[in-house]
Amino acid sequence: MYLLYTIIASLVSFFILKCMKKRRYCTDLKRLDGKTVLITGGNSGVGKEAAVALAMRGARVIIACRDPDRAEKAVREIKSRSHSLNVLHMELDLANLRSVREFCKSFLQREKRLDVLVNNAAMPSVLDWTDDGFSMCFGVNHLGHFLLTNLLLSRLKECAPSRVLTLTCSTYKYQKLDFQDLNYNLLPFFTYCRSKLANIYFSQELARFAEGKDVTTYAVHPGFVQSDWTCHYSFLFRMLTQVIMWMFFVPCEVGAQTVVYCAVSDEAAKHSGGYFVDCRPSTLRPFARDAGVAKKLWEASERLVKLV
Ligand SMILES: NC(=O)c1ccc[n+]([C@@H]2O[C@H](COP(=O)([O-])OP(=O)(O)OC[C@H]3O[C@@H](n4cnc5c(N)ncnc54)[C@H](OP(=O)(O)O)[C@@H]3O)[C@@H](O)[C@H]2O)c1
Repeated sequence: MYLLYTIIASLVSFFILKCMKKRRYCTDLKRLDGKTVLITGGNSGVGKEAAVALAMRGARVIIACRDPDRAEKAVREIKSRSHSLNVLHMELDLANLRSVREFCKSFLQREKRLDVLVNNAAMPSVLDWTDDGFSMCFGVNHLGHFLLTNLLLSRLKECAPSRVLTLTCSTYKYQKLDFQDLNYNLLPFFTYCRSKLANIYFSQELARFAEGKDVTTYAVHPGFVQSDWTCHYSFLFRMLTQVIMWMFFVPCEVGAQTVVYCAVSDEAAKHSGGYFVDCRPSTLRPFARDAGVAKKLWEASERLVKLV
């Protein structure tokens, strides 16, 4: 009898876990022939899966990565899985603002189009510093992308209607920004949460900044995904998280679906500046919708990256 209860309990748990992991797929079949998509950190995880899906829809896909060998390997895989030859990589280190400026200069010289920018790359919860002295999460996840987007905005406007997607995380809700200490670097998880909250404010303020220019913006939470983010941690931590990820997290391909949805859907375009989860708009906590904070962060970021 005890064995029977154990089997039933296991089956029920397994079923609940399967339901929890079930996510929506992008059902919009729009193609992107003739369009150019730029994805930061497209050599792994959600970024790589989004690259495959968007290349399959006919887009020219450029992945912007810091490691040329990993990028080259990913390009080969994306080409073979998407059956598209229109995939390439360019070098970009978001932890170095000079690299961001050089990347944009060479991108604008080489590429005539930019239709969809996907600000995907990120550092998970780590305590480290960028080359410019910013905390790693805030510097890479927010400031690097802030500068990148601003320097590419002219091309996005020329190619309008165009879109800027910024990957965020539902863990944004566990922290607020401290303008006295934007470079907060004490508890690793909280540095990550703050950077992901900054991504949301950035996406909202960009929507206001680009209003009337036909450049729409989307903050995307891909769900909790079985990606490579644990590679930054110890072997023991990786082993533990592998089990949790296998049980609760979705495959990267599923995580990429909301990225694809925001890149193509006309329905999504009606909610510029919005927060998207599971291929639909979602509601943010009120503090994360504060336009005053978003504007203040934009102005502070402009000063920090020396745009003004
Ligand atoms: N995984 C999740 O459960 C989850 C949940 C919510 C939100 N997200 C968000 O989804 C996005 C993708 O996450 P993921 O899980 O796919 O992560 P991932 O597999 O760890 O990929 C992160 C990418 O960012 C790149 N990157 C890191 N630092 C960089 C730098 N300084 N310059 C350029 N590229 C850099 C990495 O390049 P290297 O290969 O060279 O390290 C890698 O390609 C992130 O924005 C993340 O915050 C993920």
